[in-house]
Amino acid sequence: MDKISHGEILKKIWKHLQMGAEKRNHPFHTPVLATVSENNLPSARIVVLRRFIKDERALIFHSHIGAPKIKEIQNNPIVSFVFYHPQEKIQLRVTATSSIHTNDSIAEEQWQRTQLLSRRCYLGLPPSQICENPAPGFPEEFVNRKPSIEETVIGRKNFAAILSIINSIDCLELNVHGHRRSLFLWSENNSLQTKWLTP
Ligand SMILES: Cc1cc2nc3c(=O)[nH]c(=O)nc-3n(C[C@H](O)[C@H](O)[C@H](O)COP(=O)(O)O)c2cc1C
Repeated sequence: MDKISHGEILKKIWKHLQMGAEKRNHPFHTPVLATVSENNLPSARIVVLRRFIKDERALIFHSHIGAPKIKEIQNNPIVSFVFYHPQEKIQLRVTATSSIHTNDSIAEEQWQRTQLLSRRCYLGLPPSQICENPAPGFPEEFVNRKPSIEETVIGRKNFAAILSIINSIDCLELNVHGHRRSLFLWSENNSLQTKWLTP
């Protein structure tokens, strides 16, 4: 197997997280986010990685403030993200500590970055409610047209940016000539410990 350092692997991880946040067709754009539900059960779903801030080891995604995952994160801010890149054959299992932002500069900056079409999701009821019939997830009038900027203003109060600071990354790289698994652990004072793991 090629000799490689943890530093080189981390550089590759940061590059893919950055691309995942910026490019819609990059597989890291849609990680699985796992939280602990109110009944203490695992709860996992896809979210869109909207932003990666390397210097803060921060991942940001957006959600409706009424989504069950918001309460779950408020109850237990330790979350896990799973990323997989099928061409590069890289799996990342990330643990992070999340905070919910609705009324501060983080929320405002992220709201300003949203597209009008995406804002439709904040104009109606939160996800995961039981409904009589199949529902589009936003008011019917926007099924076939983009809302105007004025029409999206009402959605701002339902918008949350969730910022997650990475605590650890377990990186598995699959390779026909031998897999490689590395572990990165950051302590509270941001010092980094690295280890190799059996794949
Ligand atoms: C490709 C894809 C991207 C999604 N992105 C988000 C997202 O960024 N934020 C979000 O709250 N839900 C997103 N969802 C919907 C969630 O997976 C989930 O169904 C919904 O938010 C309800 O989750 P909850 O009940 O656990 O809160 C996405 C679903 C898919 C399939």
